[in-house]
Amino acid sequence: MKPTSPHLGALAVGNIVLPNRLFVAPMAGVTDRPFRQLCKNLGAGYAVSEMVTARKDLWHTLKTSRRANHDGETTPIAVQIAGTDAAMMAEAAAYNIDRGAQIIDINMGCPAKKVCNKWAGSALMQDEPLALQIVEAVVAACLPHKVPVTLKMRTGWSLQHKNAERIARAAEQAGVAMLTVHGRTREQGYKGQAEYDTIAAVKAAVRVPVVANGDITTPEKALAVLRHTGADAIMIGRAAQGRPWIFGDIAHFLATGTHRAAPLTQQVKQWLLDHLGEHYGLYGEFAGVRTARKHIGWAVRTLPGGEAFRTRMNALDSCEAQVQAVADYFDELSLDHDRLPAAAVDVAEDDDAQEAREAACTAN
Ligand SMILES: Cc1cc2nc3c(=O)[nH]c(=O)nc-3n(C[C@H](O)[C@H](O)[C@H](O)COP(=O)(O)O)c2cc1C
Repeated sequence: MKPTSPHLGALAVGNIVLPNRLFVAPMAGVTDRPFRQLCKNLGAGYAVSEMVTARKDLWHTLKTSRRANHDGETTPIAVQIAGTDAAMMAEAAAYNIDRGAQIIDINMGCPAKKVCNKWAGSALMQDEPLALQIVEAVVAACLPHKVPVTLKMRTGWSLQHKNAERIARAAEQAGVAMLTVHGRTREQGYKGQAEYDTIAAVKAAVRVPVVANGDITTPEKALAVLRHTGADAIMIGRAAQGRPWIFGDIAHFLATGTHRAAPLTQQVKQWLLDHLGEHYGLYGEFAGVRTARKHIGWAVRTLPGGEAFRTRMNALDSCEAQVQAVADYFDELSLDHDRLPAAAVDVAEDDDAQEAREAACTAN
């Protein structure tokens, strides 16, 4: 059936066709392979891995090898790389292509002070010649493999230095196949509101697909951002934490103009249990139980008794006990709530999210 909205169809990124235009944002410490796959299963058309450092000496670390794990992931496999040296970034691109990457994304969006012990991520936006040098080197490394290069950035360095449009034009000229813009400056971090005028200006300035990102938390907001920016796709980060079915909700709303029913409580339980199984498989018991706590916490945070459950659950330290606790919580919830009770979506960053971001943005 033909989509009723122009925002629903497939989208070509270079020679790769994405099934839809609803993307999961790369979130270090969150969007590992199990979580990306969960989002893809529930309606996301595209997911970018957590950033992988361009520093070769860190490629052997457990953290980097887990980040480079794409076992069984629905294609296309997209890997984000971060660094400050053009040659190293080119090498990192080639290394990840060898390991299955079909799209390489350059990180100019992370506001962490230091990536790879140097200013990187969105800090690169302050040094346009270096940013361009990196883009050119990565494109040159990917070209022989026919792997498209994409770029994720912010609106600029600070309110006084919004250079996203200039960087977008230069990056397109250098061969970048898609641009994502988070509607905040680097200086803002995650404070204040994302603005979409700059994203609209970027969209108007280039021909390659532009992805709008920042503070998209509901189907209505998704539609409003698509309309305001004219963007080809949207990317969702924090609002997918604990609610990975948001992609399906948005797709339904864009297609019909109506909201679909909340998911069945038993269905949510099963999604979470399946996710935990994959998560333990990647991290093992010790790290798996600990890193799963944030995902479980996000899943229950707005639900009845969720906070008390989270406190109890955080004290458990085996996979078996964690799985049992989650199953019991949702079984009890489903006695009174056939479907997940409605809750105001709250993307205010909680301690887990902030901790994950700060720890993860060191990239190694
Ligand atoms: C925990 C966390 C980790 C993040 N890690 C990355 C990252 O590795 N690379 C990147 O480009 N952006 C990263 N971001 C930024 C997101 O991709 C996204 O641009 C930002 O959260 C705004 O989108 P949202 O309002 O939908 O969350 C991270 C954000 C969070 C919350």
